[in-house]
Amino acid sequence: MPNKINISDDIIKELIKSADNVRKNAYAPYSHFKVGAALYAAKDEDNFDIITGCNVENASYPAGNCAERTAVFKALSEGYNSFKAIAILGGYAEKMIQYNASNNQSDTSDASEKYISPCGICRQVLREFVTPNDFYVIMARSDNDYIVITLEELMPMSFGPDNLN
Ligand code: THU
Repeated sequence: MPNKINISDDIIKELIKSADNVRKNAYAPYSHFKVGAALYAAKDEDNFDIITGCNVENASYPAGNCAERTAVFKALSEGYNSFKAIAILGGYAEKMIQYNASNNQSDTSDASEKYISPCGICRQVLREFVTPNDFYVIMARSDNDYIVITLEELMPMSFGPDNLN
């Protein structure tokens, strides 16, 4: 899979591993579907950090929040305002990535797990804060099995802040 993001493969892998790691904190007692997201975010244009989020469900189902929005809201509230990419990984498996310490290789634990695409609400929330053709959604099954797509491709002709100016 060619890397069309101008960030390194190492950073992509780090984003995916961060998303995988935060999955363990997902609160998903209703769906049992645990999602992790890792946002590549900066306070100024150059200094990027990884801000993670997991899904947080609620007994009143619509009150739940997706992993992607958790990451975006965490980042914004901590002063990050420039977003370049988000890695997303999720499924029913307890562990998505199996790490093999001896050769540092990793793979999905369950081949039936699918790539997770952000829901419509998360796409719209992301769209508010990014340039859609310069924001990359990394849908991962492991850190060496992922799809990269721009928000513009996921959400053509979107409605955003510019429409209200
Ligand atoms: N979910 C996410 O966190 N992100 C997605 O992209 C898709 C769905 C969560 C919401 C809910 O807690 C569970 O996955 C099942 O829909």
